[in-house]
Amino acid sequence: MINIKNRSLVSITDYSKEEILRILDIAEDFEVNQRQKILSDYVVATLFFEPSTRTRLSFESAVQYLGGGIVGFASPDVSSVTKGESLKDTILTVSNYSDLIVMRNPMDGSARYASEVSPVPIINAGDGANQHPTQCLLDLYSIRKTQGKLDHLNIAMVGDLKYGRTVHSLVQALSLFNTTFHFVSPESLKMPSSVKTWVKKAGLEYHQYTDFKEVIPKADILYMTRIQGERFPDPLEYEKVKNAYILDNAMLENSKDSLKVLHPLPRVNEINEDVDDNPKAYYFQQAQNGVYVRQALIAAILGLKE
Ligand code: CP
Repeated sequence: MINIKNRSLVSITDYSKEEILRILDIAEDFEVNQRQKILSDYVVATLFFEPSTRTRLSFESAVQYLGGGIVGFASPDVSSVTKGESLKDTILTVSNYSDLIVMRNPMDGSARYASEVSPVPIINAGDGANQHPTQCLLDLYSIRKTQGKLDHLNIAMVGDLKYGRTVHSLVQALSLFNTTFHFVSPESLKMPSSVKTWVKKAGLEYHQYTDFKEVIPKADILYMTRIQGERFPDPLEYEKVKNAYILDNAMLENSKDSLKVLHPLPRVNEINEDVDDNPKAYYFQQAQNGVYVRQALIAAILGLKE
């Protein structure tokens, strides 16, 4: 049993290993029995100050499968933020209309701030380049489902490791599970020291590469990421690295039979479409797993599952 009732989820480090594993177990139950109408008395708000397809729609789908109500906005353009309303006032107002707020915001630290001013729990749906804890939970779910375990795996992360909030959260969580990390990126997009410190503190190994191909045969999970043009202060720097890593089907020939290719999506060109029909491609099922995991998280935070 865990008690995450009424607690915000801002960073994956807010949860213990036991709490993470419990959410994954509850999500497994939702995968088997998705339409449990336990949320009929509840309203969830989704406030997206930054674009999203998977995170927002899977949260809204999760709430609707559970029989709950949804309010919110998909873009700040249709909110009073355009009139100059502050984040604090927005959160205090929306907390009057909902039991739980799911928020994505381009500013690092905005979710923590929102959680400090909000009378209802906040779920961070991505804050700038900082954290994406619910993506992390669905990534862990996908890894456990495909590999049968979370411990002692070789996890290769490829692409934008500097600005990629999904890999930051995932490294912190996997540091609880004796992972060996392989970080592949251009020099300018290396994993930040603050994240690598988590690996060191856990007494685990990480290896850094700029070449992509040598890592593929070692990997149990190949976690591809998009080079995120929108996060670069200098567009010319983006142009230099935007096509640094492109995975195609032929490159998977010498990979482990059990390898799965994950990607938080959206992809641009870092996974060639010829990979999509390879049984090792798992990124669309990974996105589907997001609904079960978000159902579990909402139900646990609202005290409906423990
Ligand atoms: N993985 C993810 O966060 O996708 P969206 O940006 O579409 O929500």
